[in-house]
Order: sequence, then structure tokens, then C-alpha cells
Amino acid sequence: MRYYPNIPDLNANSSINLLLRRAKENRTTNIEEYITTGGYSALKKALTRFNPEDILILVEESTLRGRGGAGFPTARKWRFALSNPPPRYLICNADESEPGTFKDRIIIERDPHLLIEGMIIAGYTLGAELGFIYIRGEYPAGAMILEDAIEDARKKGFLGKNILGTDFSFDILVYRGAGAYICGEETALIESLEGKRGHPRLRPPYPANEGLFGKPTVVNNVETLANIPIIVTYEMDFMNIGPMGYYGPKLFPVSGKVKNPGVYEATMDLTLRELIDMAGGMKNDKKLKAIFAGSLAVYSADEIDIPLDYSPKGFGGTGTTIVLDEDDCIIDALIVIAEFFEHESCGKCTPCRVGTYEQLNILRKFQNGTATEKDIELLEYLGKNIPVGSICGLGYSASNAIMDALRKFKDEFIAHINGECPAGICF
Ligand code: NAI
Ligand code: SF4
Repeated sequence: MRYYPNIPDLNANSSINLLLRRAKENRTTNIEEYITTGGYSALKKALTRFNPEDILILVEESTLRGRGGAGFPTARKWRFALSNPPPRYLICNADESEPGTFKDRIIIERDPHLLIEGMIIAGYTLGAELGFIYIRGEYPAGAMILEDAIEDARKKGFLGKNILGTDFSFDILVYRGAGAYICGEETALIESLEGKRGHPRLRPPYPANEGLFGKPTVVNNVETLANIPIIVTYEMDFMNIGPMGYYGPKLFPVSGKVKNPGVYEATMDLTLRELIDMAGGMKNDKKLKAIFAGSLAVYSADEIDIPLDYSPKGFGGTGTTIVLDEDDCIIDALIVIAEFFEHESCGKCTPCRVGTYEQLNILRKFQNGTATEKDIELLEYLGKNIPVGSICGLGYSASNAIMDALRKFKDEFIAHINGECPAGICF
């Protein structure tokens, strides 16, 4: 076995033990151990008892939504692809790079066969013969673990020609990204996989209709695909897991000022408040100030009784939860996010390229005490206009956190204009 570098000792806990059944405490990279704990039995069941349409119906009934953040119904995406003639491709998007997001990492590094099994069943359902795992360059150990696990699965006859003696053949290739956040955007990912510069394409056409090499391609997140063996195993009982319409397990990466940062697995009837409790509560029993849902939204302390589901009032997204306490400065936190977007904008659209640069500079003025009321107006202007002139999710969301913070923490902006940082960090 190869030496795997840089595997952090992530804290993980679960109230339901489905996605994290093997990964909660241990790393189950050994295929024998995976098999003795029930692994690859969902694949056997899928290939021997179900035809692809049966599995599609199970995924439809499961209400599974994409766990990469957008929450798009998985079965609907699969149906779009199936309405196009083969060849079809499956891509697992393992390029998770949203600030504060490290949930897919735990599956990749601690239970890689769960993802591989999910991909094989998805490949069978989609009539695909080839799948790719596009993994971010910053996960070198994850890439090696996946490569080794895929080789082990090939040796056991779970991958390759005539899987388990059926006429279904499928293989998986691992492709490493080179550290660009934008390559997690599905069309930039496809460009990168085709050997081109990772710039997003205009959509439509969506990849399900015209993706890799112009062929119908399903791009699914790691956690989405890891749910597939669980759905096949539980069949209709999957609908007993979690609240109506949002069935199944969900992972939540929690970081910041909680006692036990880590990855948590729960059903989606959990509230944000309960998730913070699950992570041990506030560090040093300080007062909660805000939650950053990655870079996409900011919640204030009086908004944490929302459910962690995909309903209009739910938390949705990737489940990323960055907890700030009374000692944290909202401006300071926004600068981290703004620096990230300024650095990661691919530069194709002028409003995104220039706007992310400008909003960072304006935020820095609040930090160094030179901002005026006019700068609030400028931030609002950019927040309205960057998304309008952008063609991909990065540009659409580059100002989300700032706009949310302006709505919910305007007093902090005003305080900075008046030369005061409520957390005592700036100036
Ligand atoms: P989107 O809502 O445009 O699309 C979601 C998925 O549904 C895509 O696979 C898309 O191809 C498919 N889809 C949507 N409409 C379709 C149609 N009419 N026909 C066929 N397929 C269709 O969201 P997008 O731009 O793909 O992703 C944005 C999300 O990504 C954000 O909500 C954010 O939460 C998340 N994100 C996650 C990151 C991570 O590290 N996990 C990083 C950055 C963003
Ligand atoms: Fe690139 Fe930004 Fe345009 Fe997306 S919105 S394509 S990241 S410039």
C-alpha cells in the first residue's frame, strides 16, 4: 500500500450512521473490510434484481438532491441525460473548494469504495461505460486512495468488462485538478477534462444534453453518488430516513468557533441550532455572532432555528457551516471571502473580474478606517451588477455574503466608518 500524505485527523460524528458508517472513526480503504461490512452488496443487488429504470425510479422516489450545493433533483438530471443517445459519461465532481467545505474529503479518504460503488450503479443506470472522478489538486492523498481503491475494485470484478458476469462494462479514471476553484464549476471542469483551459461554458446546453466531448454527461457530487448504494440497499425504507420530501442523510462540515469542528451526518429535519450543539456548542461558551454558509449566505444569531433542508426557508447548499463568535469581525470575515473570489475569478467576464477586485478593495477601506457611506452604496451597486454580467455560479454568488451582511450587520459597517471595530480587530 502506498503512503498517503497529508491526511488530517478530522473529527466526524453521525446521528444516523449511513454515509459515515465506516468513516466516522476509521478509514476503510481496504476492499476486504468494505465487503465484510456489506460493501458492494448494493451493486450486486442492482445488477441482479433491478433494471436501470427500476433504479431511476428508486432515486426519483428517494427525493435525492445534488449535494454539491445547488440541490438539483438527481433523478431529473439523470433522465435528461438518458433522453440523449449514448455514449454517455458520468463525472464525479470531487473538486470541493467552497470556503469551509470539506465533507466530500471524508468519504474520499475514509470510505472510497462507497463512492466507487455509487458510481458503478449510476453508470449502470445511465448506460455509461466510462466515469471520471475529477479531484481537486489539493487532495493528493484522496487521489491516491481513489486510484488504489479503483484498482482493487477492478481486481474483484466490480469494474471493467462484464461486471459480475453481466453484460455491463464500466470503468473509472481519476483526473487531478490543478488548484483552480473555477474547475469545480461543471462546464469548466469538463473543459479541463478535455485538456483545455478551465473556463466555464455558457449554459444551456447543460452537460446532461451536451457535456464531455459533446456527449450527454451527468456531473454529480461525491456525496450525491455516495447516497446511491444506500438508496438501493434501503429501497422504499429510504423514505423513513429524515423529513418528508428531503429524505436521506446529509453531511455538514462545521468549522470556526465551535468546540468540536468536523464533519457531521444527520437528517435534514435538524436545525442549524441543533447542528451547532452537535458540534459541541460554542467554543469557550462565547456568544454566537454569525454563521457563514460557506461564501453563499450569512445568518445572524436569531436565524438559527431553520431546518437544514432544501426548502425555500431551509439552509440548503453544501451544508457548510462556519461559526463566528462575538470576538470575530464581520468585515474581517468578508475580506477572507472577497480575497478568495478575487483570486479565483477566471477573468472571462469583465463584471466578475473587475467587480471582485473592486469589492475587495472597498472592504479593505472599512478595515483600515478610510471607508465612507458612499462605499456602502458602491458595495450594493457591485452586489447588484456583478451577477448580471456573469455567466457562472462564481460571478452569481461572489457578492452574496457581502449583500447578506449589509442587510443583517449594517451596524458593523457603520461602526467601521466611525472608526470602531466591534470585535477590536481592525485598524
Ligand atoms: P445550477 O443550479 O445551475 O445547476 C445544478 C445542476 O443541475 C447542474 O449539474 C446543471 O447542469 C443541472 N441543471 C440545471 N438545470 C438544468 C436543465 N434545465 N437541464 C439539465 N440540467 C440542468 O447550479 P451550478 O451553477 O451548477 O452550481 C452552483 C452551486 O454550486 C451553488 O449553489 C453552490 O452551492 C455550489 N458550489 C459548490 C462548491 C463546492 O465546493 N461544493 C463550490 C462552488 C459552488
Ligand atoms: Fe469566470 Fe467569473 Fe465569468 Fe464565471 S462569472 S466565467 S468565474 S469571470
